Amino acid sequence: MAAIEISGLDVVRGGRLVLRGIDLSVADSIVTGLLGPSGSGKTTVMRCIVGLQRYEGSVQVLGREAGEPLLRREIGYMTQSPSVYPDLSAGANVGYHAALHGRPRGSAAEAIDMVGLADRGGQLVGTMSGGERSRVSLACALVAEPRMLVLDEPTVGLDPVLRRDLWQLFRSMSGERGVTLLVSSHVMDEAHRCDELVLLREGRLLAHDAPDQLLARTGASEMEEAFLRLIETTPEVSR
Ligand SMILES: Nc1ncnc2c1ncn2[C@@H]1O[C@H](COP(=O)(O)OP(=O)(O)OP(=O)(O)O)[C@@H](O)[C@H]1O
Ligand SMILES: [Mg+2]
Repeated sequence: MAAIEISGLDVVRGGRLVLRGIDLSVADSIVTGLLGPSGSGKTTVMRCIVGLQRYEGSVQVLGREAGEPLLRREIGYMTQSPSVYPDLSAGANVGYHAALHGRPRGSAAEAIDMVGLADRGGQLVGTMSGGERSRVSLACALVAEPRMLVLDEPTVGLDPVLRRDLWQLFRSMSGERGVTLLVSSHVMDEAHRCDELVLLREGRLLAHDAPDQLLARTGASEMEEAFLRLIETTPEVSR
């Protein structure tokens, strides 16, 4: 069974159709990358999946309609701008989410460790850098140990070593724990870290395929090039 099943999804925001007829089936227990330029609709797709967006069409998540209260415990959502309390420490922020989800003592420290902030649990989040704050926000999503993680640009602004470590973490969560991950990025060089890619452009789904299949299909050697070729050869999005 697919973890996420979307059909005929249309979304209007600010009086404009920002998602147009999206059909998408996201497989269970793998890492799916949601890629596309700024404004293409990545965050909006995620908001639909986690139940925060009005839409037309059908969005089924783990066999239920998106937004059903029972799904809250199953999905960890990391928003694009960090959802954290600046006047609390990193430990208190993550501890709050741990308590909300009935996680044992020690789970907050573990999650903070996972995002590479082991020695920073006591620091006020308001005094942290943007990248650190976003990692605290990620730890808040991880600490609940949900079946599905929806992560909106989790690696933006991070150095290459941290990015590599986080992608290893995402891969191990899907490989070892069977977690389903949907991870957005507007950086094409993160594409090869994913099992499958969903490419969006101007609210439309341009392609959904494994990275090597996309390269083979377009005859491109890099994902950026593949993306450009797809745009050129897909009439309704080339305008
Ligand atoms: N609250 C809003 N009111 C009006 N328009 C909106 C609103 N939120 C988003 N939009 C528009 O919807 C479109 C899709 O936005 P979305 O945030 O989903 O894009 P994105 O792919 O996540 O971009 P980015 O990479 O910059 O985060 C954009 O054109 C944006 O301007
Ligand atoms: Mg976004």
